[in-house]
Order: sequence, then structure tokens, then C-alpha cells
Amino acid sequence: MSYEKDAARQLAALREKQKADILAIESSCDETAAAVIRNGREIISSVIHTQIPLHAMYGGVVPEIASRQHVESITPVIDEALRRADMTVQDVDAIAVTYGPGLVGALLVGVSAAKALAYAAGKPLIPVNHIEGHVSANFIAHPDLVPPFVCLVASGGHSHIIRVNDYGDYTLLGQTADDAAGEAFDKAARVLGLPYPGGPLLDKLAREGNPDALPLPHVKTPGRYDYSFSGLKTALINQVHKMRMKQEMLSDADVAASFQQAVVKQLVEKTMLAAEDTHADTVALAGGVASNSALRMRMNEACQKRGIRLVMPPPVLCTDNAAMIGSAGFYQMLRGVEPDLALNACPSLSLQMRSME
Ligand code: KG4
Ligand code: ZN
Repeated sequence: MSYEKDAARQLAALREKQKADILAIESSCDETAAAVIRNGREIISSVIHTQIPLHAMYGGVVPEIASRQHVESITPVIDEALRRADMTVQDVDAIAVTYGPGLVGALLVGVSAAKALAYAAGKPLIPVNHIEGHVSANFIAHPDLVPPFVCLVASGGHSHIIRVNDYGDYTLLGQTADDAAGEAFDKAARVLGLPYPGGPLLDKLAREGNPDALPLPHVKTPGRYDYSFSGLKTALINQVHKMRMKQEMLSDADVAASFQQAVVKQLVEKTMLAAEDTHADTVALAGGVASNSALRMRMNEACQKRGIRLVMPPPVLCTDNAAMIGSAGFYQMLRGVEPDLALNACPSLSLQMRSME
């Protein structure tokens, strides 16, 4: 029997059972990760190898270095995930892999490894959208969570407020007019001389600062649920230069806290507006920025005030990992997937979203 026919038969059986142990692979940016996920909800094992120290000295991810490092790490990382799960590749039911969006060379390493493994072991291959993976991290962290809910997806490259109508069914409510939230944090951190990736370091520094120390402008955005960070970033750069010229004594911690507060305020306000207008009883956070301590705290306060349930993954499931890909892969499988070994990396893959009615 051909690979495609056999994989299609296996997928049909898995859909029927609604059960699967999925080996998931993620290599879209600067983390090489593999995980084994049961029924889209339970982590059997999860291994993340970060390349951050390699890229930090260049101030950002160097695509060529990322690809080479993924090539070196991918096999040991997959082996380690299977070892920790006490499984061989024969024991898993399917292989899920991130095929976009991300860096083309980085994605190709994961996609090629997944295709080779799937073919060699005769297992179905499930392509997964990285953004959908971020949203799905919530299904692992909260096994009782079911759609619909409103989700703020804020990562290094993407920033959306969406309504998760059902598994794999999304409506775009709002988005950034310019920089992604993580990008804004990273740029502000760079102004303060913090190394890449600045977001988590800015978060840490901000804990010692006064968030009201630096006056930042009120931001106007085109859409009701849209937000914008480039004006804040420019204001921050101007203020910091002015301060340094006048030798004013505003600490870096004050600057970090003020910028963080302004970003978080927009994210919380717009997410709450979207949740209220759509009568959502649950709000979820996703993406690397969802690990920001001020965002988690302020969003929690805002949701409590409105009687809305707030769910968010633990920080390790907010930033890039393969567990979230295994969860998204499971629901992708239930919806139906064509077993196709011609799968290619799609660096600018977008999340299929409906627009608001
Ligand atoms: O989701 P992610 O790991 O990778 C992408 O898919 O982009 O997000 C990485 C982004 C980076 O911009 C990083 O600075 C930001 O998330 N980030 C944070 C924090 N942790 C990660 N930003 C603010 N506060 C944090 N604690
Ligand atoms: Zn990501």
C-alpha cells in the first residue's frame, strides 16, 4: 500500500477513536523543540532547546545560524522527547510539525525531519500553523477549556485579538496597526541597552521601576479593537534621548515600567472591549508576550472585575515549544488532513480567519 493510502487509513481510524499520541516538532525560529502529546491535552514529554545565547551577541536571530543549529539539534531533541516518553517512533500515532509562519531555513529543518520520520515509520504527517499552536497551548494548560473564547495572541511577529469560534475556526477582531507586541518590547529593550530578546529582561527590570515616571502619549488606532505601538516606541526614544542630554535621573527601571504599562494598558483595554462586545465568558492569552508578568496581572484584574474567566498557559508554554504544536495537530487531525509528503515550509503562512460580520 502507498504511504498516502496507508496514512489516510490510519488518520480515519484515529478520527474515529478521537484518541492519538502525537509526536510534535517545532523549529520555526530560535527554539528546536519536540514533544509527545496525548489526545491534544496531555504532555507526555516536552523538550525545548533554545538558541538564544547563540543569537544574543548579534542582537537578534541570525537566520543562517538558526538553520544550522536546528540541523544539529533536531535529531537529539526528537530522540530525547521520545526517550522521556518511554516510546519509540513506532509507538506514536502521528507526527505533527510546524510548517509556518517563521524563518524558511529554520522551518525546513523541522519539516524535513518530520517528513523523513513519517515516511520511514509509516506514520501520518500533520502540518500545523505556528500561531494556531500558540492558541492551543491553552488546551494543554486548561484541559476543560473549550471554544468559544476570545484570545489575545501576542508574540514576536504577530499580535491579534481573535474569537476562537471552534477548533480551527477563528474570527479576527483586532490587530496591531504596526509592530507586534513582542517586537515593541524588544525594540524598547534595545533602547535601554538590554540584550536580545529584550522582552523578558524588560519585564524583570520593570518590576523595580515606577510605571508612572515617564509620560507617554495616548494612542489612537483605526479599528475599535486595534492597537499600535510605534508611537509609543518613538516617544520612548525621544524621551530617553532628552533625559540623557539633560542628565535627568530617571532610572532604566522607571523607563521600562512606564513603557510596559503603556503597552499592557492597550492590550488589556482592547481585549476587554472585544470580550464585552462579543459577550465572551472566557478570555485566553497566547504567545511569548503572554508570559509578561504585568500583562498577566492586569488582564487578571480586568477579567475579575467583569466576571470573565481568564486562562493562560504557564510561561514555558507561552514561548515557542512543541507541546502546543502537538495539541493543535490533534485538533487539525480531527478536522481532517490530507497525508501529503510534498509538504513545504510556508514562511509567511497566515492563520485563516473570518472577518467580523
Ligand atoms: O511566541 P514567541 O516565543 O516567538 C514568536 O513566535 O515570535 O515570542 C517571542 C517574543 C519576543 O519578542 C520576546 O521578547 C517576547 O515574546 N517575550 C516577552 C516576554 N517573554 C517573551 N515580552 C514581554 N515580557 C515577557 N516576559
Ligand atoms: Zn511563537
